[in-house]
Amino acid sequence: MASSIADQRARACCTLLTQVHAITDKEGITPSALHAIKLKLVALAAKAHLFPPGDFAMPVAQGRTHPLLVEENDGHGLYLTINLPGKEAAPHDHGIWCVNAGISGRERHVFYRRTDDGGTRGSATVMRVGEVMVEPGCGMAMADHDIHSTEVIGKEPAIGLALYGYALARFPAVAWFHTEFSSMRVCSSRRHAAAAA
Ligand SMILES: [Fe+2]
Repeated sequence: MASSIADQRARACCTLLTQVHAITDKEGITPSALHAIKLKLVALAAKAHLFPPGDFAMPVAQGRTHPLLVEENDGHGLYLTINLPGKEAAPHDHGIWCVNAGISGRERHVFYRRTDDGGTRGSATVMRVGEVMVEPGCGMAMADHDIHSTEVIGKEPAIGLALYGYALARFPAVAWFHTEFSSMRVCSSRRHAAAAA
């Protein structure tokens, strides 16, 4: 009997995580490791038949994240993300590495670097340093403290794969940067709560 799309998808996600661990076991989380992981994720996202829209409910508004494979404890989290046209996120730092790959639609990621010395609590200045369009055939990779903003471009939802160093439920504090006010706000970490659960 032919296996279902869901079974094929589960196997493909498992294979991806095995490949990711093979890369990071050898190399750690380096720029070249993140690049290699990005290429693997782009290749998985290119298998659009494994991610039929009917298997993933659309967001009511803004965006929605569907878990594909979430490892236990402090393992990685692989998700399918759907962001609706116009959704945007201000510059932020996840505190953990992240790789994205487009399945359909387009999401622009703008990258920033921090230009202050971090010495004044609540203050921060950032400078735009580049951008990447995450769309079919393309992805992006961020190291632990890279800063990005996102915006869905066009009239189609941006659907893609997102792999995070930690599962979303165990995320570190995310820092949001308010460029027009030269300020920043740090959301509480989920790591302590997750570890206590
Ligand atoms: Fe982000």
